[in-house]
Amino acid sequence: MVLILKKIYLFGNWKMNHGLSRTDNFFKEFNNRLVSNQLAGNALKQHLLELAFFPPYVSVLNALGEIASEYKDSIFVGAQNAHQEDQGAYTGEISIEMLKELGCKYVIIGHSERRHIFGETNPVISAKIEKCIEKDIIPVLCYGETLKEKEDGLTIKVIEEQLKSAVDNISTSDLNDKKIIFAYEPVWAIGTGLSATPLDAENICRTTRDILKDTKGSSMSRDQIILYGGSVKEGNAKDLINQENIDGALIGGASLKVDSFFGIINSCLGQD
Ligand code: PGA
Repeated sequence: MVLILKKIYLFGNWKMNHGLSRTDNFFKEFNNRLVSNQLAGNALKQHLLELAFFPPYVSVLNALGEIASEYKDSIFVGAQNAHQEDQGAYTGEISIEMLKELGCKYVIIGHSERRHIFGETNPVISAKIEKCIEKDIIPVLCYGETLKEKEDGLTIKVIEEQLKSAVDNISTSDLNDKKIIFAYEPVWAIGTGLSATPLDAENICRTTRDILKDTKGSSMSRDQIILYGGSVKEGNAKDLINQENIDGALIGGASLKVDSFFGIINSCLGQD
């Protein structure tokens, strides 16, 4: 008998991987595995486990269509980015409004690859977060320091700036209603195989709660949903999730294959 003490969120960021046919194949295999995995099935039905997949835009509809109806309130689909305007002359962009219409529950905002490869700044990210709240779609806000910033002792300063800017125009009641999910993703840990240690990740996630509370004042609760991301895999997921202030994981590479994703699910549920 396995006792699950808190709800666990395992989110898979597929990045620019898995077009239509690979998405179909993934979910065929995923659904088969779920049928035979009673522990995961029960955890999903009891809302002790929530899964979300973030495929490329073109695969979102296929992914949505493949989720078995009995899990539609515990397995969700989201997008990896969106533009903050509702419509207009923004060639190549997709609006938050459009994602909402498509059926996305979540959208990743401010992923380090958006910040560092595509030059997204804190003000842009803050505008996107505001639009998400307006459109009632939950942003998964990524924040975290680069290796240089870590080595220069700037981690707290950097994450404080990122967090304060992102929630600046968001009301305390929206934050208390968990309308934003936070994902601490140290840039040096993403795709490198070098995860933060559970204790280091825990410290930053606890500090995140402190920063939000300091920023928003006494009516701010401390029970936001905070994920850790950066080289999460079967071998380290459980130790990370078991930390008091870590509610789940944002998983890149290890979410691309059903086997490795289920490896993480099983270890987090205590079935290794
Ligand atoms: P990774 O990616 O798990 O491959 O390190 C995480 C992310 O970019 O969200």
